[in-house]
Amino acid sequence: MCYCLPFRCFGGNVVLLIQAFRKKFIIPEFDSFAQKIDEIYKTVQKQRDGKVADYIPQLAKFSPELWGVSLCTVDGQRHSVGDTKQPFCLQSCVKPLQYAISVHESGTEDVHNFVGMEPSGLKFNMLSLDEEDKPHNPMVNAGAILISSLIKFMEFLKKMAGQEYVGFSNATFQSEKETGDRNFAIGYYMKEKKCFPSGAEMIDALDFYFQLCSIEVTCESGSIMAATLANGGICPITGERVLSAEAVRNTLSLMHSCGMYDFSGQMAFHVGLPAKSGVSGAILLVIPNVMGVMCWSPPLDRVGNSVRGIHFCQELVSQFNFHNYDNLRHFVKKQDPRRQDRDDRNQSVFNLMFAAYSGDVSALRRSALSSVDMDLKDYDSRTALHIAAAEGHTDVVKFLTETCKANPFVQDRWGNLPVDDAIQFGHEDVVKVLRDYQQDWKQRKKQPGETEHAQKLDTFEGMV
Ligand code: DON
Repeated sequence: MCYCLPFRCFGGNVVLLIQAFRKKFIIPEFDSFAQKIDEIYKTVQKQRDGKVADYIPQLAKFSPELWGVSLCTVDGQRHSVGDTKQPFCLQSCVKPLQYAISVHESGTEDVHNFVGMEPSGLKFNMLSLDEEDKPHNPMVNAGAILISSLIKFMEFLKKMAGQEYVGFSNATFQSEKETGDRNFAIGYYMKEKKCFPSGAEMIDALDFYFQLCSIEVTCESGSIMAATLANGGICPITGERVLSAEAVRNTLSLMHSCGMYDFSGQMAFHVGLPAKSGVSGAILLVIPNVMGVMCWSPPLDRVGNSVRGIHFCQELVSQFNFHNYDNLRHFVKKQDPRRQDRDDRNQSVFNLMFAAYSGDVSALRRSALSSVDMDLKDYDSRTALHIAAAEGHTDVVKFLTETCKANPFVQDRWGNLPVDDAIQFGHEDVVKVLRDYQQDWKQRKKQPGETEHAQKLDTFEGMV
């Protein structure tokens, strides 16, 4: 039978298939979104600044040319470009993961008995505690060493990565231990200040911390971990709940304020998304409720963040309205690749038509300010301008034409333009407004370089 084929091909995942056919994914036009990601990737690839970490041979060996980006959406759509299958160590990118797991296991209160939640304003490996003699937050070394005394780990990481690649570099672990004098100093300092829970061995916690830094992922598997955080703790590939919603929310908050070392404030300002970097050149980026991204490029800037990784995050947010404080309704200069709900569209059409019918200019202004397309058509291909013209609402017609620059040449299913409706129902004032506007519209179309979209942007910005 014909409908057996998709069932066979996609196994049990019929929901995924139906979503794809209905364009119900969070990024409905995924191919064109992926193309834009590839363009950003290429632009960023030209960056030649930064220096590969060389305090241990396992990091120094990496070519500065390596550059990969993978992303995984909250509904499991994936895209990768560049060196995305090569393993690298998580290093400090493990800090938000270990924190999330510890909160999932022990709860916020228990964990924050031992660790603060304030940005430290200091380097990640400073020998420093807050006023209560706790590490400032879980994203700096002291916090991560302390949390290492609280949790059990590897199983969780595998689950977060949808069972994809999670490895371990023993050589890195040994090197980290041998070169980890600063971390030993932090450990002893915290021991002196009685930071550790009773019964916990500081040396064991340190050992575990070095092991965590040496866990390997690829861009591909790391992007699934990030996507699990983006998806409130449910892995988008397996559908399994790995972390509690509370653990994820805490983690994203702390990544947002403390995740990028001495660049955290600037990252929160310019990119406005939770992220965590590591000395291996990895950046784990989360776009909550949309997707997780793992960037990897070994050359680091002065504060220890991947040069290309930072550049990628900035480019991404300059093209798409992913910044936490981008306005999703009015900010029309950036692209929004997210799904527009069919229900939202139906509601918009209904609101527009009803406002045009009842002569409600205020309601129409609200729609325009919410970036609703004022040329939306109903079932009969009629626009708000058709309806206002037929009803003889001159003020509405003026608003739709002069302010919203609605298209006067849309034909309804019977081939009628708005001006035809005004003529048919004998609304002379409206006929005049529309005839003048049609002339104006044709004139404007002839001006080189001015697109309809640009005209509309100008108008709406004037309105706001
Ligand atoms: O704790 C340390 O010193 C290292 N394993 C590095 C951790 C890290 O990634 C800091 N990076 N920017």
